[in-house]
Amino acid sequence: MRILIFGRVGQLGSALSELLLDAHDLVFLDQPEIDLAKIDTIESHIIKNQPDLVINAAAYTAVDKAESEPDLAQLINASAPSQMAMSCDELHIPFIHFSTDYVFDGRSNHPYTENANVNPEGVYGKTKLAGEQAVAAACRRHVILRTSWLYSHVANNFLKTMLRLAEDKRPLRVVNDQFGSPTFAWDLGSATVAVVDAIESGREDIYGLYHAANSGVTSWCGFAERIFRIHGDIVDLSGIPTSEYPTPAPRPAYSVLSCDRLRDVLDFSMPSWEDALSRCLARL
Ligand SMILES: NC(=O)c1ccc[n+]([C@@H]2O[C@H](COP(=O)([O-])OP(=O)(O)OC[C@H]3O[C@@H](n4cnc5c(N)ncnc54)[C@H](OP(=O)(O)O)[C@@H]3O)[C@@H](O)[C@H]2O)c1
Repeated sequence: MRILIFGRVGQLGSALSELLLDAHDLVFLDQPEIDLAKIDTIESHIIKNQPDLVINAAAYTAVDKAESEPDLAQLINASAPSQMAMSCDELHIPFIHFSTDYVFDGRSNHPYTENANVNPEGVYGKTKLAGEQAVAAACRRHVILRTSWLYSHVANNFLKTMLRLAEDKRPLRVVNDQFGSPTFAWDLGSATVAVVDAIESGREDIYGLYHAANSGVTSWCGFAERIFRIHGDIVDLSGIPTSEYPTPAPRPAYSVLSCDRLRDVLDFSMPSWEDALSRCLARL
């Protein structure tokens, strides 16, 4: 298939460029060729490239900065995917989009299913939810994959920050009362390949919303501890409550995603976060 992908240089875009390359004709669009804040340029790019499928791997992902740039976050996370979805629907092209565990307020104590009530508390989560809703309303053949705590060996993320801080050899205090599932961008990429394969095979029963996160649960401190253990870093690490690490944007205290629908409909099971972390660190 000829696949148009918005965003190659981010974590997910990097994974998709590797995982889809052999089997498909890929076209990537990045800045400066396209600025997703300029909504009215999106449709002409889609028409010009004549794709069989469009994937949006781009997003405004600066969770704290979004609190002071709500209009830009809304443009990139909601208005741009809305336009992509409308154009895809008009052109009868399926559309794959990504969202986040931050659409939840974190007050649950059991994994969120796709049907669970959403209630984002920060600007980033609100704009991502607006994007989900606009995509679902505009494009009949859409797939939205919600993921959580995304990291990889490329681009900026929690894993890279921890490895950098470990080099300082100073005591490190990391939040231990937020629980979720760290997700290796390459595993989210593999889940996306399963969606692409299903679309290519002509299945019409796969459209809609899915959760796609590595399985298992930990805290940010537990994630850091495992990173240092596998990587062989000796770090004086201690856990602290969220109240001792205030951030501009609130984070859900619990954002574990149930991925049963992905397994049941697409026959794709997400590996455990511990296994994923080992594979990621092996690529550094
Ligand atoms: N990171 C996480 O922890 C996390 C968690 C849950 C869900 N998600 C979701 O997962 C998806 C992938 O996230 P990611 O971590 O791979 O993102 P990322 O590494 O931050 O990459 C974001 C991508 O969006 C592009 N982009 C941003 N602003 C743009 C603009 N104005 N015009 C064109 N391109 C623009 C970036 O390109 P430039 O670098 O050129 O700006 C980059 O390619 C997103 O939908 C995100 O919301 C992420």
